[in-house]
Amino acid sequence: MVALPKLYVARLLPEPVMTVIRERFCLTAAPQVGAPNRTALRDGLREAQAAICTLTEGIDGDVLKAAPHLRVIANYAVGFNNIAVDEAKAKGVVVTNTPDVLTEATADLTWALLLATARRVPEGDRLVRSGAWTGWEPTQLLGADVCGKTLGIIGMGRIGRAVARRAKGFDMPVRYYNRTTLDPSTLNDQWRPTSWQEVLAGSDFISLHVPLTAETHHLIGSAELRLMRPTAYLINTTRGPVVDEAALVAAIQEGRLAGAGLDVYEQEPALHPGLRTLPQVVTLPHLGSATLNTRIQMGMICVQNILAVLEGRPAPNRVA
Ligand code: NAP
Ligand code: GLV
Ligand code: GLV
Repeated sequence: MVALPKLYVARLLPEPVMTVIRERFCLTAAPQVGAPNRTALRDGLREAQAAICTLTEGIDGDVLKAAPHLRVIANYAVGFNNIAVDEAKAKGVVVTNTPDVLTEATADLTWALLLATARRVPEGDRLVRSGAWTGWEPTQLLGADVCGKTLGIIGMGRIGRAVARRAKGFDMPVRYYNRTTLDPSTLNDQWRPTSWQEVLAGSDFISLHVPLTAETHHLIGSAELRLMRPTAYLINTTRGPVVDEAALVAAIQEGRLAGAGLDVYEQEPALHPGLRTLPQVVTLPHLGSATLNTRIQMGMICVQNILAVLEGRPAPNRVA
């Protein structure tokens, strides 16, 4: 019998994915719940020909050095800022991600966060459960209108466009800023490309969908927050370090921004102390792609990419 390829799986994935993985591969370590520490990561990778890692595993040059047999890393995420892709490339290790299958789930979650922030949904939930609710009240928990307001999108890629599509149901004009100029024939002609200044100054809700790179680190800082309307809300479901959290807290505390809906943080899972206490901030624990169906599809894509590389075929979702 031919030996099965050796695979390191950093985290326990949904059961249908684990079933396929156990049939097709020999695991170098028992997949765990919770992020592996560096020693466990290096141990798991030592004999591995392939790996499935998640966004919490930092794969840098040192980790790659400890993995001499590695041919492919399938990142269980569309974002791959956790991997030193240039070093992987230099070592001949293919890196893949999981685009498309998580686009709609992440766009849905972005809207959940936008609506929850504007209409103070978590505050309302806390009030009812606390037993302190005394009944309907004309001035209780008044929020902001969503319908008809302007939605600004920064990073008009797969998820940015899926978020924009949903704005139609809320009669919201969409304006966007993207680093490169996009071919208008690929976009809805109701979506207006705008300058950097205009997307910040002219939107009621600003939603971030750029990848985290050296260029987008603290893309939204003190200067950008000062351009936004004091009635505006910032929604971030991309990566925490795209926003300078200290500047965001200051802007909300000083009344320069109405609030923020956050799924991601600069130092996950740590929270900036200001974010913990501000009622105008809604916080979710990085749930963008967290539906069972999406998480199963992400796993299947990782398996397909790994099998392609090990069988000498091009990986469908190669990023490096
Ligand atoms: P994508 O299709 O590659 O879209 C990213 C867009 O951002 C592209 O249109 C890109 O355009 C643009 N962009 C890049 N750098 C920019 C800059 N400096 N300024 C303005 N625009 C810039 O990626 P996606 O599939 O939509 O995913 C986006 C990100 O969402 C991922 O990288 C990941 O971090 C995050 N995400 C989070 C969750 C979650 O659980 N919260 C789930 C899924 C994804 P050009 O490069 O052409 O200029
Ligand atoms: C999740 O954050 C992803 O990048 O897929
Ligand atoms: C509120 O419940 C209303 O009927 O306006």
